[in-house]
Amino acid sequence: MTQNQEAAKLNILIAGGSSSAGIAAARALADNGHQVLSVGSDPGRIAAAVSGIPGAVGLVCNLADPADVQALADRVHRDFGTVDGLIHLVGGWRGGKGIAGQSDEDWDFLQRNVITTLRNTSRTFYPDLLASPAGRLAIVSSTSVTRPTAGNANYAMAKAAAEAWVQAVADGFAADKSQGAAVVLAVKALVDDGMRAAAPERAFPGFTDVTLLAEEISALFTQPAAGLNGSRKVL
Ligand SMILES: NC(=O)c1ccc[n+]([C@@H]2O[C@H](COP(=O)([O-])OP(=O)(O)OC[C@H]3O[C@@H](n4cnc5c(N)ncnc54)[C@H](OP(=O)(O)O)[C@@H]3O)[C@@H](O)[C@H]2O)c1
Repeated sequence: MTQNQEAAKLNILIAGGSSSAGIAAARALADNGHQVLSVGSDPGRIAAAVSGIPGAVGLVCNLADPADVQALADRVHRDFGTVDGLIHLVGGWRGGKGIAGQSDEDWDFLQRNVITTLRNTSRTFYPDLLASPAGRLAIVSSTSVTRPTAGNANYAMAKAAAEAWVQAVADGFAADKSQGAAVVLAVKALVDDGMRAAAPERAFPGFTDVTLLAEEISALFTQPAAGLNGSRKVL
């Protein structure tokens, strides 16, 4: 693909599609003509997330469970074909007071949501991404990875592990001479219209609007893999 080239219709799976970031990404990708497959663990939330987005499909899966992810892949392959893009947005935040306050319970949550769901989805859909003319894997990481704090230690470590995994996938794409690109988009924090409406006096300094994030995600599919693969962009 060359830059600015019109994107072909691609199957793009959004892991964690019912967050405001997932909804914004789904809208931007559907607007660009792609088949959006939004995945969440809660049936009501994922149905609501895709309800206003023409053509977008909501799918239910516990992405922390490898067998459930394989069942999802089987269903996607049967009903839509192979996947060209995997946008991984399953996250969540946990913090604690200093290093001693980093609880095992919070680590278990972060490991499951941030790392395990990424491993499960990217391993299962890796052959699809490898075979695609525009295979893309993207995660949204945190600027805390390069500036970790004691109170954020569990979270920064989980995100650092996720970034390392993405770099390993990028190496796989390059080694297999594919057109794939695995990328990290890093933000300090996300903001959406609902958050602004709930706190009109707040400035949200350094926050990234989910619509800007969605545009960045959508643009990944019109940029050449060379230069993109293995990149980390701070938004
Ligand atoms: N929000 C921020 O300020 C911020 C800052 C830095 C980085 N990020 C990153 O940006 C991304 C999006 O953040 P966000 O705050 O919008 O995320 P979020 O609100 O935590 O949303 C998580 C999404 O993942 C789904 N999910 C959770 N567990 C799942 C499971 N086991 N199986 C399937 N789906 C599951 C949730 O839906 P269900 O609950 O219905 O399953 C939801 O759609 C994340 O990677 C996050 O770490 C966010």
